[in-house]
Amino acid sequence: MDDPQTIYLAAEIIKKGGIVAFPTETVYGLGADAFNPLAVARVFEVKRRPYFDPLIVHVANPDNVEKLVKEIPPGAKKLMERFWPGPLTVVFLKGNDIPDIVTAGLPTVAIRMPNHSMALSLIKESKCSIAAPSANPFGYLSPTTAEHVREQLGDRVDLVLDGGPCPVGVESTIVSFLEGKSRLLRPGGVPLEEIESIIGRVEVSPTEDKPSAPGMLPRHYAPRTPIVLDWNEKNIELYKNKNIGLLAFQEKENRLKISHTEVLSKKGDLREAAANLFAAIRRLDALNLDLILAEAIPEMGLGRAIMDRLRRASGTRFTDSSADQSDSSNGHAEECEKESRTK
Ligand code: TXA
Ligand code: MG
Repeated sequence: MDDPQTIYLAAEIIKKGGIVAFPTETVYGLGADAFNPLAVARVFEVKRRPYFDPLIVHVANPDNVEKLVKEIPPGAKKLMERFWPGPLTVVFLKGNDIPDIVTAGLPTVAIRMPNHSMALSLIKESKCSIAAPSANPFGYLSPTTAEHVREQLGDRVDLVLDGGPCPVGVESTIVSFLEGKSRLLRPGGVPLEEIESIIGRVEVSPTEDKPSAPGMLPRHYAPRTPIVLDWNEKNIELYKNKNIGLLAFQEKENRLKISHTEVLSKKGDLREAAANLFAAIRRLDALNLDLILAEAIPEMGLGRAIMDRLRRASGTRFTDSSADQSDSSNGHAEECEKESRTK
């Protein structure tokens, strides 16, 4: 599917104001020309995404960032040089020309250069910056295969480019550079440790009481089946007579009565676990289980992004420093929950 003709067709659709689902190294995105507000509006509509939730602008060349932003802070520049193309999104003060619908009226814009040949060819061929959220209904898990996209949005998008399974499997890490501070807004495909090794300490805790990225809402990335993260074999009695699925990190003996187990990485490799995460949850979600017990994962490297998504999928309130941006008192969480349950 990486053939020039398919890319040409997809690029024509983008240029004419259509919407195309395309693979990136993290998850599939649903793209539109960032400078065509009507096309971008269709992306929001198809996803049933609230307009307060801004989109990431995807570029194929770091040189293009200059005309999209007010300035490139030195820390941002270093990260772009080190991690682009790759699973890192940087939040800048926005330039004047970017339509408000893309940034939800914020004075900032999130930008990334994906590391996927199809995504890069699509951006280059269309000669557009492409605004794209993950290609899933709002609040649901991000798609990591073209099949996931087709199942949920297939008939509502103009084209789905198929680039096979996404190698990283969790969304990009988001770092903002505002008011002279670097802040982690979402853990993702580039581990925090690697970012800090380049620019030093990054603030993780929030300074505001509303999440600045809805991906930070306490219930997000959620399947239909309840996910339980806070359990152990001792309190398993609570779930007797329930039809239970297990999302295990590694294969190991247990005494649970489980209908189906998904193992994320037999050898305990966090990269492999991240790549398998969303597809494994989707498979469990398709089994009509009463609940999914998820095993905790070591919170280092990609484990931080995995645990972040598991907490949000389970609706667990955040208590540790890695994921404390949540604030379920703001009502957004409820909206999200409704959205994901109506799917
Ligand atoms: O890996 C990814 O980032 C994927 C692929 C397709 O690139 N995209 C993705 O997009 O995950 P989305 O829309 O599902 O998540 C983007 C997150 C949202 O939580 C949004 O609120 C946040 O980025 N965001 C976008 N613009 C922002 C801004 N100006 N300030 C803070 N957060 C922003
Ligand atoms: Mg998303």
